[in-house]
Amino acid sequence: MLALGEIWEDPVKGHRVGCLDAANPEHIALLMGDRKATLAVQDPPYNQVAFEQMPIDEYIAWSSRWVDNCQWSLTEDASLYVWLGADQNNGFQPLPDFMLMMRGKPVQSRSFITMRNQRGYGTQKNWMCVRQECLYYVRGNPPFTPQYTDIPRKTNGYYKEVGGKLTENSERSKSPFIRAGNVWIDVQQIFYKLEEDVKGCYAQKPLKAIERIVLASSREGDLVVDFFAHAGTTLLACERLNRVCYTADIDLRFCELTIQRLLNYRETGKTGGDFLSDASEESSQLGPQLTLFSEG
Ligand SMILES: C[S@@+](CC[C@H](N)C(=O)[O-])C[C@H]1O[C@@H](n2cnc3c(N)ncnc32)[C@H](O)[C@@H]1O
Repeated sequence: MLALGEIWEDPVKGHRVGCLDAANPEHIALLMGDRKATLAVQDPPYNQVAFEQMPIDEYIAWSSRWVDNCQWSLTEDASLYVWLGADQNNGFQPLPDFMLMMRGKPVQSRSFITMRNQRGYGTQKNWMCVRQECLYYVRGNPPFTPQYTDIPRKTNGYYKEVGGKLTENSERSKSPFIRAGNVWIDVQQIFYKLEEDVKGCYAQKPLKAIERIVLASSREGDLVVDFFAHAGTTLLACERLNRVCYTADIDLRFCELTIQRLLNYRETGKTGGDFLSDASEESSQLGPQLTLFSEG
C-alpha cells in the first residue's frame, strides 16, 4: 500500500503515481523531480454537496494553492485544463469565483469547453442539468492540434473562392467529420455497462474526453500532469497515446486503483474494471516503489 508522501514509479514507461496533496508544494516538487510538463489536466473536487464542502473563500484559497503548484510544474509553453462544476442551486459555484481567481494568475484564458452529459438532474422543474465545464488556459505558445469528432459533416453548400475557383465547403474541409469545438456532444458519459467503467469511481471522466485534450495539447513523449488522479484516466490516456504521466491523489485507494488500472490495461487491453476490492491484496505486485518523501 502507498502511504501519504510516497510515489510509485512505473518501471516500463516512467509514469509516476503519488499519494500526495496537490496543495502541498513539497509534495509536488517531489512528484516532478527535475522535470516539467507541457500539459496539465486537472479535475479537482468541485466543492458540491455530494462531496465534502468548504466555504467558497476557503475552496478558492485552496484552489489558488494547487494552481500555483501546477504552474510551477509546467514548462514556459504549456496548457492547463481544469474541469469544474457550476452548482445552479448555489450561485453557480465554484466556477465564477474560480474564474476570477485565475485572472490573477500568469496564464491566458483560451477556451471554455462544455461537455454534455447524457443523464442529468432537475428534469421536471428546471432545464435538465447536463453540463460538465472545462476551462482551458495557456502560457507561452504551447502546441495545439485541432481534433475531429466522429460526427459526419452533413451541411454542404458554403461556397468560397479559393485560388480563383469556386469551392464548396466539403471540398475545403480536412476531414469528413466535424471538428471538435468548445461544446462536446459526442462523448458518452461513464455508466456501469461501459467497458471503461471503474467500479467505485463516482467522478470518472470519459477516456475519449481526456484523450481529445492530450492529443490536442501535447506531443508524443511529452510529460503530462494530473494532481487529482481518481480513476487514473489521464494516466491511461497517456499510456495509450505515448505520453508520460505524473499523477497524484490524496486518497491512497485511488492511487492503488490508478496503478492497477494501468497494469491491468497492459495485461488485458481492458480500460475498466473493479480494482477497489482487491487493491490491497495486489499491491505487493506493484514493482519498484520509490519513497521520495515521507511525512515522518
Ligand atoms: C473529481 S475526482 C477526479 C476524477 C478523474 N479525472 C477521473 O477521471 O477519474 C477528484 C479526486 O481528487 C482527489 N483529491 C481531493 N483532494 C485532493 C488533494 N488535496 N490532493 C490530491 N488529490 C485530491 C480525490 O480523492 C478524488 O479522487
